Formats: sequence, structure tokens, C-alpha cells
Amino acid sequence: LAPQLVLGVETSCDETGIGLYDPRQGRLLAHRVFSQIDMHAAYGGVVPELASRDHIRRLVPLLRETLAAADARLQDVAVIGYTTGPGLAGALLVGASFAEALALSLGVPAIPVHHLEGHLLSPLLASDPPEFPFVALLVSGGHTQLMQVTGVGEYALLGESVDDAAGEAFDKTAKLLGLPYPGGPALARLAAQGQAGRFKLPRPMLHSGDLQFSFSGLKTAVLTATQQEGYGAEQAADLAAEFQQAVVDVLCAKALAALKQSGLKSLVVAGGVGANQCLRAQLGQALARRGGRVYFPELEFCSDNGAMIALATAMRWQRGLASSTPGGAFAIRPR
Ligand code: KG4
Ligand code: ZN
Repeated sequence: LAPQLVLGVETSCDETGIGLYDPRQGRLLAHRVFSQIDMHAAYGGVVPELASRDHIRRLVPLLRETLAAADARLQDVAVIGYTTGPGLAGALLVGASFAEALALSLGVPAIPVHHLEGHLLSPLLASDPPEFPFVALLVSGGHTQLMQVTGVGEYALLGESVDDAAGEAFDKTAKLLGLPYPGGPALARLAAQGQAGRFKLPRPMLHSGDLQFSFSGLKTAVLTATQQEGYGAEQAADLAAEFQQAVVDVLCAKALAALKQSGLKSLVVAGGVGANQCLRAQLGQALARRGGRVYFPELEFCSDNGAMIALATAMRWQRGLASSTPGGAFAIRPR
């Protein structure tokens, strides 16, 4: 049998991911993620040099595990896609070198893949996937973007954050409230014990009349609130809840405006903040009221993983949209 499988390699930040996708079956066969969170937690954030070194340690074992779980062999791989950016330069180089070297040894093409395209297409890994066209709300640690997605490779940017990304705002605010890294999930957990509305925080750019976002002021507003006389740690949960609600209100309002503007009914949410339950609930209700539908990636595909890179590679490959690096002279694009 001719090789047919697509291997995806993700090393842009602090997760090492390997995914194996079968385009003929249109199915993910297996994937494995190793998260470095515990290693970086002691430093309060990702240490790039440590991240690079750990990717080196993890890639080969993860590849073996993924192949074993899929009951596949290396010789079944027809194409290898890897994240070329954006991300940490050293971390990206590890994945790129690994993928290019493996491709060279197997005599198959290596395809550079944009990390955000992986996130964008990740909801298509679900059992009940959305159909094109849709509006995508991409909310990760590095990006907050609204895109009109007409097909694979057909992405029109509708709006984005002019400063901090939504995930970045969660992380920075969490730090400010004394929560451990990674801040987003920790802040969401704290918020669940509090009540929004007891503190009043702004909803930045809510009425800006466009689809741009701004989240850096919100973090400052939280800092100011903690410095008010009478503020005590017992109010942190209420403050966290109000912060989360402010971010979610703005994300929801702009996502709905993007749907209206583009005349589309389907919204796809991708990226780490897509794991936020408050965001999921509010968007779900809002879309149900309007006769639209919102699609979220499975929780395991919200954060960085190799499965979404394998899928993006496969979709590009099948449509003739992927090109390998000429002569294997690969380059990464950290920004
Ligand atoms: O997509 P992702 O895994 O990595 C990037 O490409 O950035 O997103 C990570 C971001 C982090 O900022 C993290 O704090 C945030 O997603 N995040 C959350 C939640 N889970 C992860 N933010 C809010 N609520 C969550 N439940
Ligand atoms: Zn990501």
C-alpha cells in the first residue's frame, strides 16, 4: 500500500505535539501532547531556552507513542507538516529541524504550517464539524483575531487586538492577582467562586464601531482595583469574575458583530481561551437566540497540539496548496 498518512509536528511554545492524520479516512488516527507547564511554573512563565531543550527530549518518544497508538509505521507517512511560526524561535527550530530531517530520511515532503491556521482548522477535528464558510474567533495567548474563513487558505482578517491578546490579558491579570502560571485556567477557576458585577470594570472598545479589540487597559483597571483602600484578598474571586465577564462580553459582542457584517451563521472558536467555560456558555446562548451556531474544538484541541497541525497539513496537501521548502532550506517565522 502506498504511504498515505500525514504527520503533524508542533513545538511553537511549551507543548510538544505529534499528530497522525489519515486523509483518505478523513480521520485523526492518534496524537500525543507533552506539556512543559510544570517545568516553567517555577519561573512564572515560559523560559525559552528550557522549552527548546525539552522539545528535543520529547519529540522522538512522542512520535513512537503516536505511531504505536495508531498502529502505524514511519513508512506509512506520506507528508510531514510542522509549525513554522509564530512562536519562540528556538522552540520552532527544534520542530522544524526534526520534521525536515525526518522528511529527508523518508524521502517525503516537509510542509511549513502557520500555527494559527492549525488553531483555526482545529474545530474540524470534532465529530460534528462546521462547514465553510464561517467566522472564526481566534483567542490564544498570542492572538485575538476575527477572521472570515471561506475555505482552506482563504482567510480574511476582520479585526484583531491592538495590544494584548485575550489569553495574555488572562495570564497577566492572573499574575497580578497572585495566581500561579498558567494564569488563564487558574483565573477562570477563581472566577467561578466569585460574582461579576460587584466590581465594575470597563468593556474596552465595546462601542468602537469596528471589530478591533484592546485588553491591556483591563489589566491596569484590575491593578487599580486591587490598590483601592479596603481591597482584600477575599475579594479576589469577585474581581476575577468581573474581569472574565468583561473579556467575555467584548469577545461575544464583536463575534456577533462579525457574523452580522459577513452575513454568516456559523461561528468557530479556536485557541486556548476557547477552553473558557464562561465564554462557551455565553456564546452558545447568544448564537442560539439568533438561530446561528457556535463550534468549539474538543478541549484537548484547544491548546497547542500536533493533531491540528497534521489536519492543516492534510487539508492544504489535498488541495494542492502546500509546498515543501525548496531543497529543504527551511526557515522559521517566529513573528
Ligand atoms: O492556544 P494556546 O494554547 O497557546 C497559544 O498559541 O497562545 O493558548 C494559551 C492561552 C494562555 O494565555 C492561557 O492562559 C489561555 O490560553 N487559557 C485560558 C483558559 N485555558 C487556557 N484562558 C481563559 N480561560 C481558560 N479556561
Ligand atoms: Zn497556540
